[in-house]
Amino acid sequence: MDVVSEINRLRQEKNAVILSHYYVDAPLQDIADHVGDSLQLAQVAAKTTADVIAFVGVHFMAETAKIINPDKKVLLPAPNAGCSLADSAPADKFRAFKAEYPDHKVISYINCSAELKTMTDVVCTSSNALQIVESFPKNQPLIFAPDRNLGAYLNKLTGRQMLLWDGACMVHEQYSVEKIIKLTEQHPTAEFIAHPECEAPVLLLANHIGSTASLLKYVTQSPAQTFIVATESGILHQMKKACPQKLFIPAPPIDSTCGCNDCFYMKMNTLEKLHSCLQHDAPEIVLPMETIEKARIPIERMLQISEKLTHGI
Ligand code: 13P
Ligand code: SF4
Repeated sequence: MDVVSEINRLRQEKNAVILSHYYVDAPLQDIADHVGDSLQLAQVAAKTTADVIAFVGVHFMAETAKIINPDKKVLLPAPNAGCSLADSAPADKFRAFKAEYPDHKVISYINCSAELKTMTDVVCTSSNALQIVESFPKNQPLIFAPDRNLGAYLNKLTGRQMLLWDGACMVHEQYSVEKIIKLTEQHPTAEFIAHPECEAPVLLLANHIGSTASLLKYVTQSPAQTFIVATESGILHQMKKACPQKLFIPAPPIDSTCGCNDCFYMKMNTLEKLHSCLQHDAPEIVLPMETIEKARIPIERMLQISEKLTHGI
């Protein structure tokens, strides 16, 4: 069986749209109707006329698509594709934390559970985070969850003192400052670019900090020919496609044997699993209607605020 032809046949037959995140393996990006960052994919999901959404990414992304589209079938080819960052904010612990600060509004990074989104005023992604923070009056006390690194970066950019939930991503926390410095010495004309989920000492070294979409745009516009890239390895596929003449070097992790530039969860997706989920209409995202109704409000606020934004930070 030719798995690609079968996927193409099934997507037509079922009026399905395939959405792939920049971090999944190259063949899964190439087969997608839309490939993008978290914000772009949420925006596409909000507008699609397809009956079925096959989300080639991780659980919180497919869950978000379901919350925006309660009447559509949303499929997640790899049902165990979670997210270490989302897992770092269990809903019950967050509920107790939030209760201690009743005067604070909550901004949640989209990398969190649907349950946590129900306790949120506005959701954000790395693309629109700055814009969402700035949409609140300066004197409004804020909680930012769950990513402490993105939160700290936003505090630095805005001069605010948002309370930060102590969560992080296992991929973006493992870069070695020392090795990055050594590598930039070996490639003196290279630019170092980083996702804001990286730790502050790594971000301090960066020529550009941005979401996956922003990093991709940056490499196409910069005159530099070599880039050291501190984010998940999947994005290199789009960078190489957009700029075949340029060189992209994954930023070195502390442990050079760990392969930790790969998000273990994103890499659970395969063409075979995508084919199987389109064939069997499963695994499907199912959520209680009460959760959908509550979680939808902060996501729609985010979509409204960032309607005209293509790239933020
Ligand atoms: P983007 O929103 O930049 O696509 O990032 C998603 C993500 O999971 C980062 O680790
Ligand atoms: Fe989650 Fe990190 Fe993987 Fe992104 S790269 S999905 S934040 S574990």
